[in-house]
Order: sequence, then structure tokens, then C-alpha cells
Amino acid sequence: MTEPLIGIHDLSLATAHYRLDHDALARHLGVDPAKFHVGLGQDAMSIPAADEDIVTMAATAAQPIIARHGGDRIRTVLFATESGVDQSKAAGLYVHGLLGLPTTCRVVELKQACYSATAALQFAAALIAREPAQQVLVLTGDVAKYALGSTGEPTQGAAAVAMLITAEPAILRLDTPSGLYSDDVSDFWRPNYRTEAVVDGKLSVEAYQHAIEQAWADYRYRGGRDLSEFAACCYHQPFTRMAYKAHRHLLHHAGSDAAPGTDLDSVLAAGTIYNRAVGNSYAASAYVGLASLLDHRDDLANRPIAIISYGSGSVAEFLSGVIEPGYHQHLRSAANAGAIARRRPITYAHYRELHQVEIPADGGDHKIEQESTGPYRLAALSGHRRIYESAEGRHHSSSLIQGK
Ligand code: COA
Repeated sequence: MTEPLIGIHDLSLATAHYRLDHDALARHLGVDPAKFHVGLGQDAMSIPAADEDIVTMAATAAQPIIARHGGDRIRTVLFATESGVDQSKAAGLYVHGLLGLPTTCRVVELKQACYSATAALQFAAALIAREPAQQVLVLTGDVAKYALGSTGEPTQGAAAVAMLITAEPAILRLDTPSGLYSDDVSDFWRPNYRTEAVVDGKLSVEAYQHAIEQAWADYRYRGGRDLSEFAACCYHQPFTRMAYKAHRHLLHHAGSDAAPGTDLDSVLAAGTIYNRAVGNSYAASAYVGLASLLDHRDDLANRPIAIISYGSGSVAEFLSGVIEPGYHQHLRSAANAGAIARRRPITYAHYRELHQVEIPADGGDHKIEQESTGPYRLAALSGHRRIYESAEGRHHSSSLIQGK
């Protein structure tokens, strides 16, 4: 029996309501803007309004996928995030409710810093290999938040990506070999009592490069392709310059250093365009890069690409796949670019205010003023419950609770 081809059948991006331009941040911090634009490779970062979070972004990303394909064959929803809104309940359950997905479905949240979406893809592929008629909805989204005035502050951002994983996919079929590396490192983490991450930035850059080099070695050992075969490489991008740093490091490690003047842009640039505008989106970042790549290159049919995933703490995976012929017809380039273009510029003062917003923890009834204009918003907190609503104004919660 031949194994089914499995991979990404549809992919859609969402981001937050506001953007803070790095020029404004540089002005406020008294830093040369070139440090951000050139040194980090960032122009702006998405900032969620007070009524947005990973649930509203992920539901917004997934909604057009369900509109196009229906949800009937979805048996599993995996939500990869490190911005969880609850210690017990999977954030995907809110999205499942908002989108009206079948009750005959498992919904689970996955966490491992910026890596977990790649684990979700692999778990999805394994489920589909068992039963090729089923589909898996992979959601990934994060709000990257660092302390005001910290070196991490210019590498914040927010976005979500939804992907429908199926047999006989229309966009990308995954290769079987992949390379793995895990190591217990304290380069970035967020204890349960903190809303912002603790980070050793310099260590994280080193740990990232070491981990992907090891994952690459494992990938090759398992029969993976040579680096020179890839038409493009999508890296996890805490800031877009990191993709260039990492690729240079890999080329060096693989003994195929880029000759002076070699144009790394040909394999990297298209996959950094959205990330440059959106900022870090932790688990979603490599897949924001994939959306950017697909939307900005029209020469990828039948060509292999690599996805290089790193999550501090740390886990890395080197994954590859081949782009399907006709992939263009299945993309959402205008909608993805529109989501980024439509963000409203925010003043530094307003950004600071939002940075300090805290969710009330007293269990009382708290209405959250409408600020965002997307299809879903966090409308209230009540009895420690999060109440989301869609643009139609309907509150979504289980009929068991509505009955109370
Ligand atoms: N013009 C052009 N480039 C400039 C510049 C200027 N005026 N000023 C600085 N730069 C360059 C630096 O040379 C450096 O480039 P290099 O990395 O190629 O050497 C880059 O900008 C960053 O400057 P640096 O001084 O190293 O920044 P920093 O110490 O303020 O912080 C991080 C950088 C990544 C450590 C910080 O943003 C951080 O902690 N981020 C969060 C964690 C993270 O993203 N980790 C990544 C791996 S997961």
C-alpha cells in the first residue's frame, strides 16, 4: 500500500488591530532607527487591542478556511501557543465554539515556546496517516511581549496562522524525514506568575543556532535533502535578521559557506516580508514566514522548501516539503496582506497603556470595551469565564452554561 501524501491544504494569517512602528519606538527610546530596521530587520510590530488575544486571532485566521472547506471532516483541532489563556482549558475550545466545529472532535493545546506549531504539524500528519479521510485544523498564535525598556521590547509582535492539514494537500506535501534536537537550556521562559517572558537574549541567539545545526545534522542522517536543493528556507523569526544569521550559520556548518557577496535573499527574503511588519509571533512565526514565502514567490511549484523551527528551552526541528503545482490558486495572498495593511498605527502612549492592561482576576463581571474591528472579540469576563463574541454579536458558550 502506498503512503498518502500529507501536508498543508490551506493556510490563512491573522494579526492584531494595531501596529507600533519601529521609528516611533526608536524615537521614544533614543535609539538609532537603523538598529531596528537593519540590525534586527524589523519595521513594525502588531499590538493587540484590549479585546483581542490568541483566541480572537486564531478564530479570525481559521474562519475563511472553514468557510471554504467546511468543518465536517475535521476530527482534531491542535492549538500551538505559549500565550495560553488558561492553565487547564485548551484555547482551541473557544475557537472550536466560535467556528461551530463538529462536537465529534478532539481539541488540544500544545506548548513548547516557539517550536510547538511544528510538533502540531507532525502530530496532524501522523493522525492523517492512520485515517486519510480525516482533516486536522492546526492553529498557532502568540502575543510576544517583553518588559518595557528591555532589549526584547523591539522584538514584540502578534499573529496567528491557521492551517488545514490533509491527505493529497493543495499547497505543500511534507517529506517524511525530519531532524530533531532537544536540550534543557534556560534561554527564554515564562514562569506561571509572569505575563512577560524572562530572556537571556544573547544566549537565545546562540542556543538557536546550535540547536538548528544539530537538527540539520539529524535531518541529513535520516536521509534528508542537501541544503543546496531548497528553493527557499523559512526560519523561526524572533526578528527577521535572525533568519539570515541562522542560514549563514547552517551553510558554514554544512561546509557550503556562502561565497562573499552570495545572495542569501534568494532563499530567505520572500519569507521575511510579513514578519518584518508583524514582529515576533513565537509559535506562529515560522508559519507567518511560510505564508509570506508563498504569497511572494511564484516559482515554487514542485520545488522543495525547508521549515526550520526553534523554541527556546529548547527544541528544534528541521522539516522539509515540496510545493504542489497549482499552489497559487489556493493561496489567500490578498487577505493575508490585507490583514497586515489594515492595522491602525498606535501612538507610543497608547501602546504603553495597552502593555500595562491586566485582566481582572477577581471573578467579577467585567465588560471589555470594543476596540478591535475583526470578526471575533473578547467581550467580557464573568465568574472567571472568558466571553467571546462574533461580529454578529452572539455570545458563544456551551449550551450547558447558557441554560444556567
Ligand atoms: N545600525 C545598524 N545595525 C545596528 C545598529 C545601527 N545603528 N546598532 C546595532 N546594530 C546591530 C548590531 O550590530 C547587531 O547585529 P549583529 O547581531 O549582526 O551583531 C544587531 O543590530 C542587534 O544589536 P545588539 O546590540 O546585539 O542588540 P541588543 O543587545 O539590544 O538585543 C537581542 C538583541 C536579540 C538579544 C534582543 O532583541 C532580545 O533579547 N530579543 C528577545 C529574544 C530573542 O529574540 N532571541 C532570539 C532567539 S530565539
